[in-house]
Amino acid sequence: MDFKKVVGTRRSVRWFKPWKPVEREKIEVILQAARWASRSMNADYPRAVVVMRDELPAEVLEALHNPTTAADVDLAPVYIFWYFDMEYVNGVQDRLKQLVDQHALSASHGWSYAYIDNHLWPQVLKQIAEEPIALMFMGATETGIAICNALNAAVDQGLGTCLHSFINSSELQKVLGVPPTWIPVWMQLVGYPLEDPEAGGQRPRSAMGDMYFEGSCDKPWREDPEVTGQLQRDGMIQEPGPLPWREQEVKMLTRMFGLPE
Ligand SMILES: Cc1cc2nc3c(=O)[nH]c(=O)nc-3n(C[C@H](O)[C@H](O)[C@H](O)COP(=O)(O)O)c2cc1C
Repeated sequence: MDFKKVVGTRRSVRWFKPWKPVEREKIEVILQAARWASRSMNADYPRAVVVMRDELPAEVLEALHNPTTAADVDLAPVYIFWYFDMEYVNGVQDRLKQLVDQHALSASHGWSYAYIDNHLWPQVLKQIAEEPIALMFMGATETGIAICNALNAAVDQGLGTCLHSFINSSELQKVLGVPPTWIPVWMQLVGYPLEDPEAGGQRPRSAMGDMYFEGSCDKPWREDPEVTGQLQRDGMIQEPGPLPWREQEVKMLTRMFGLPE
């Protein structure tokens, strides 16, 4: 699928075909997409554990339920538990030096082994390593960037996907074998969508000028109707929800699984 169409077609899908497994290759593509996301210092932030719903012990599955996520969790056949490893700073000097060796970072832009060892590490990175808030902020941000690629890779392959918060219970950590240095980020549900992939239309977003600015915050970004028109033709901007049939779709799906109306 074209990039713009992937971005425009992605929705948080909450109705999956519970009976249809996802091919291992498709899951691998999702993980690869996350792996190739941009990342600061070329450090290894994200960690992911892929689990099939039907392989989780019943009590662990039950503990993943909350009032608004139970149905989605029960329907999706695949869960990807995203974490980041607090130890991502370890070895970061060597990773940066690899980039110097590869001429990705060059002297023209101020990079050298000496800059990394004598300035960047002692004055910046070591301080991040010793400051829990900075460590958490970077870990979560970087993992979010990777997850964004993972979501789009799922959509690109015709899958439905949605992020959920999850309780990183000791039982779950035990089943997944999660090391103590891993911090939970999000749980990604993956499966074949049972709802139409349009999922009732594109979700509402605030106007460009409410979110973005040009030069200074008192000058809202002016949306160009020609660009908007092109993005509509390319599929990044799609029909807003609710599409006329959405209410009926949700009603039918709800009845199919005997869920509360
Ligand atoms: C980081 C993140 C966490 C989310 N957590 C939940 C969640 O716990 N439960 C849920 O139903 N949806 C969750 N969502 C989905 C959002 O509610 C969703 O963005 C919203 O429904 C509309 O946007 P979308 O359909 O374009 O994704 C999450 C989305 C993101 C990006």
